[in-house]
Amino acid sequence: MALLTTAPRGTKDILPRDSAKWQYIERTLLTTAALFGYKEMRVPTFEHTELFNRSVGETTDVVNKEMYTFQDKGGRSITLRPEGTAGMARAAIENGLLGDALPVKLSYVLSCFRYEKPQSGRFREFHQFGVEMYGATSPAADAEVIALVHEIYDTLGVEGIQVELNSIGCPTCRKRYHEALKAYFAQYTDQLCPTCLERLEKNPMRILDCKSPVCSAIAEGAPKVLDYLCEDCADHFEQVKALLTQAGISYVVNPTIVRGLDYYTRTVFECVFTDKEGNRLVCGGGGRYGGLLGELGGPDYEGIGFAMGLERLLKVMIDQGCDFPPEETCDVYIASMGDKAGLKAFQLVNLLRSDGFQAQSDLMGRSIKAQMKYANKIGAKYTIVLGDNELEQGEATLKSMYSGSTRTVPLDDRFSDAIYEEIMSTAYADLEDAMEHLEEKK
Ligand code: HAM
Repeated sequence: MALLTTAPRGTKDILPRDSAKWQYIERTLLTTAALFGYKEMRVPTFEHTELFNRSVGETTDVVNKEMYTFQDKGGRSITLRPEGTAGMARAAIENGLLGDALPVKLSYVLSCFRYEKPQSGRFREFHQFGVEMYGATSPAADAEVIALVHEIYDTLGVEGIQVELNSIGCPTCRKRYHEALKAYFAQYTDQLCPTCLERLEKNPMRILDCKSPVCSAIAEGAPKVLDYLCEDCADHFEQVKALLTQAGISYVVNPTIVRGLDYYTRTVFECVFTDKEGNRLVCGGGGRYGGLLGELGGPDYEGIGFAMGLERLLKVMIDQGCDFPPEETCDVYIASMGDKAGLKAFQLVNLLRSDGFQAQSDLMGRSIKAQMKYANKIGAKYTIVLGDNELEQGEATLKSMYSGSTRTVPLDDRFSDAIYEEIMSTAYADLEDAMEHLEEKK
């Protein structure tokens, strides 16, 4: 029975009290990305499993252990997306978007699914905002993506998130690095977990992000990829850093970042929030991917992008006391007494809504007293009471629930205008009060 009223482990309902915050964050992220030229794309929640195997990589934890994969009724292997990059790339290729003027810049907000051990900030269904840019190879593209990350945190008023930067080179330099890693980890074959023993042969870099405490302790002493970059990759990395420094965009180099997904080449980064107790929360991550589009059958263009976890972003914003816009509440509640007044109230709230006000009237057959109590509960800014008298006279009293001030409004086609005037005049008076208050403070 409890199953019917308990959400699956690792999932979370977004309740009405939080939905305005989510809408604000998503709107801000998409509009900030639009300033950099990104257009939103929406892709399916599930894809063919093969897409993630090929792009995210078969030796990653995401593909190996965390995917929600099932056979559909037509016998196809289907996977709920664990991230957005693969589906975005698939859709860009399939829909011919890469034939547009380069670079192509796309943004997204989507839900992702990973069968991970739920804990604070880690869910089995979570949401990502991200961007992907296709077709630009210059270091300026890397720097611009990191500039967008900073612009987002600035716009939302989030402080203390550090961009940690690294380069993991290209397939050419990776070969030498893999050899060095193999030689290093070969000394610890008696201690590595079974998955990492397999990785030692197939993809030793993946051992660096194993979550087992023993493997991660061993990984701390492993050779660092920055020492193995080829000349081109080292030069690219230097230029990314120079662009960021020149533009005053902060970052630190963290040579241990390798990311948990296989498609990356060259620049990788993570956005890390460290709380007062020193706990690190990775709020976002991304980087360049040189071979992914070609691997999926598209043109040989490079891509670069990042994604941030929205649950984590919201948590940091709430913990830091960041500002959110005030919630929209009812502008006008029209209470009514009797059937005739009820008809009129129904007509008037609809009129107000067409004119852009949030308006409500009684749907419960309540007494006037109970209606007013309800108006108070929902935070109505103004109320009107309609009875036989008001109908006869063709006018009613609009009352401000904040100041108690009243004004007579006609119940004809001047109704909305009168309400608009009153709301504007009180908003203006409120603004004047605020200005006076500021002056006094000075
Ligand atoms: P990722 O680092 O796997 O990268 O995920 C990006 C962000 O999603 C993380 O930094 C974190 O904030 C959030 N996240 C990941 N897993 C969870 C979880 N189980 N619960 C809550 N939040 C989570 C990617 O997904 C790449 N596709 C990013 C990218 C885009 N790279 C290039 N373009």
